[in-house]
Amino acid sequence: MRLLSARLIVSLIIGVTLVSLCSSYYQVLVQQNALRKDVQRRAEVLGDSLTRNVERDLERNEPQALQRTVQRFANREHLAGLAVYDPKGRVIAVTTDLEPIMATAPAVVTRVLQQDQSADSFQKLGSASVNIYVQPLHRQNQVIGALAIVHDTGYIRSESLRIWRETFLSALAHVVLIAFITLLIVRWSVAGPIARTAHWMKALRTGRAPATRIKAPDLELFRPLAREVATFAESLNTARSAAELEARLREKGESLWTAERLAVHVRARLEDGRLFVVSNREPYMHMRRGKAVEVNVPPSGLVTALEPVLRACDGTWVAHGSGDADLEAVDSRDRLRVPPDDPRYTLRRVWLTKEEEEGYYYGFANEGLWPLCHIAHARPIFRAKDWKFYQEVNRKFADALLEEMEGTIRPVVLVQDYHFALLPRMIKQSRPDARVAIFWHIPWPHQEAFGICPWQKELIDGLLGADLIGFHIQSHCTNFLQTVDRIVESRINWEHFSVQRLDHLTAVRPFPISVDFPQAPAEPAPEPPYVERSALLKALGIEATFMGIGVDRLDYTKGILERFLAVERFLEKYPRYQGSFTFVQIGAPSRTHIKRYHDLQAEVEAEADRINWRFQMERWKPIALLNRQHNHQEIQPYYRAADLCLVTSLHDGMNLVAKEFVAARHDERGVLVLSCFTGAARELRDALQVNPYDIDQSAEAIRAALEMEPEEKQMRMQHMRKIVRENNVYRWAGNLIAELCEVRLDLQEGTGERHQIAASVGGSG
Ligand code: G6P
Repeated sequence: MRLLSARLIVSLIIGVTLVSLCSSYYQVLVQQNALRKDVQRRAEVLGDSLTRNVERDLERNEPQALQRTVQRFANREHLAGLAVYDPKGRVIAVTTDLEPIMATAPAVVTRVLQQDQSADSFQKLGSASVNIYVQPLHRQNQVIGALAIVHDTGYIRSESLRIWRETFLSALAHVVLIAFITLLIVRWSVAGPIARTAHWMKALRTGRAPATRIKAPDLELFRPLAREVATFAESLNTARSAAELEARLREKGESLWTAERLAVHVRARLEDGRLFVVSNREPYMHMRRGKAVEVNVPPSGLVTALEPVLRACDGTWVAHGSGDADLEAVDSRDRLRVPPDDPRYTLRRVWLTKEEEEGYYYGFANEGLWPLCHIAHARPIFRAKDWKFYQEVNRKFADALLEEMEGTIRPVVLVQDYHFALLPRMIKQSRPDARVAIFWHIPWPHQEAFGICPWQKELIDGLLGADLIGFHIQSHCTNFLQTVDRIVESRINWEHFSVQRLDHLTAVRPFPISVDFPQAPAEPAPEPPYVERSALLKALGIEATFMGIGVDRLDYTKGILERFLAVERFLEKYPRYQGSFTFVQIGAPSRTHIKRYHDLQAEVEAEADRINWRFQMERWKPIALLNRQHNHQEIQPYYRAADLCLVTSLHDGMNLVAKEFVAARHDERGVLVLSCFTGAARELRDALQVNPYDIDQSAEAIRAALEMEPEEKQMRMQHMRKIVRENNVYRWAGNLIAELCEVRLDLQEGTGERHQIAASVGGSG
């Protein structure tokens, strides 16, 4: 670095000096020219004013008068003297100083006498530099002599030297200043950041501190480089953590699922096949923010679960391009490589018109199927035009997917959720060689509840096109098979949980989805929960000792109003907590074009206001409602600092908030209050389970959570953490793909063989 700086400085000095010299030379030339012109002008003026007098003296033939005239004009600035010559070039009158050197007429005098035209000459006279200006003298148009005006031009030379000296000094000052400033810039903007980056990379390489703790240096000037370095460091770090984790697990004899293990597992299962995922939500959205375009990752459990799989096997993800700048980011075939910073797989975007989105997504999927599948007492709305769009959009996605699958052997397709019930059949009809699974992320209701859907038969038929249908829990599988039994002609095998319809066999299995389970940070958390808690509350303008947390999309299935009523009941029943317990609700607005969701937002706000108005005092209030989308990093501190987390869904397929809360509690503290109507309640038995409709029971659970003995809290949390850790999202994806890859497309139920295969693999753990 030092050598580089020295080279830079020397080059700069040479460069600046050369530029200064050239510019000085030019300045000197300009100045010399101006001074010469000035001398010539002065000589001409003097010549004009003298000529008449000299001619008169010559006419009168008065040599003394002539001598007096020339002598009189001789003392002007820079004037060396005057001389008058006759037509033969003999001197007639001359000022005293010039007498010895002008006795013989200089060449310019002779020339003027011959040509009868004034002229001048810069020349040496003896040792002096002079300008001789010569003007012809006339009588009646006859040349009777010449007047020579001699200026001393020595001062022009000294003036030029002065300019050279001054320019040199100023160039010197510039060189020193520029070199100094450059040195500073190099130090601050180049050497400093590079040294800090080197230090940072060394710390990462030697693993002296966890990467999350080492802040990446600010590389302002080198943004593109910084991005690359950060991605590089992140990959290095992920690889190191994975290797460390793997080693630790091996040491303990554990066989936990990790992203890396999933990657190896999926690659082995797929062999030379290719993986395709279809979902409504896309993993990366390009959004316009002012003039810039931002890439957002929607906070979705589905994205967390499927990203590592896609990354591992370079698959293709087909999804709705819903970002307002999505169109600009794709190629001519509507594809782009993602993640944008470190491209590993292909995202194929499907475009929907406003009407299609309205009918398929808002209408049929979210006003029809969503309330139909959740028992939350919201009446499903089925409109024929929504159904038409649902079919059309499913077709559109099927066509996009089939196009992506062209030329692929052994394609493996994972369809996600209730937006695409018709897709499995559509795919299979065109590509019977594809292995197709659909995972239904929401509950499947009892057959009688499902029976109100006017297009139940078509939906079931579409789903049964799949080789594998996944639900979160066993009871959803049972409900589904009972629905199939009631609606379509088929053979159900209750022993193996499969359906044979015509010549196609579909396995139905539970795969409880989960979350990533981050390792505890190597160092203890920087602050104990109570410090983090009071800081978080202080930022909200609240002072309280205890804090509860709830995190949801603002959805009527989540039981948010019931939760607020439970908080109110708790404060009523246990007034000692008034002034000391605050419940923070993070509520992300969702599907707000739908009236029911729009109204819910207003209802939730009104209810929080009502309860706050009833109890609030000075710097305390019972409910803090933060109704905007928070990203994963923003939510973590609330999970870590809360005394309890309230999950009171009226009905929920799984509920990942419950698992996220457990995964975030490295301190093994905090109590989970969990609705018994969530899929998660099957696994998290150590939560305080409540019926969210029973407000008193939930209020009691809040009290029990706050007053639970620390040992009991720890014991419960340890149990729950073990379950979430072992059944993490990688295991979910691994089991789903393993089961799908076991499907033998050539075998039928009748042979009994496939049955055994399905039975031996079993469901996910
Ligand atoms: C449910 C669905 C998911 C969906 C999520 C968010 O959990 O099962 O598929 O991603 O809600 O809903 P949104 O309509 O915003 O995609």
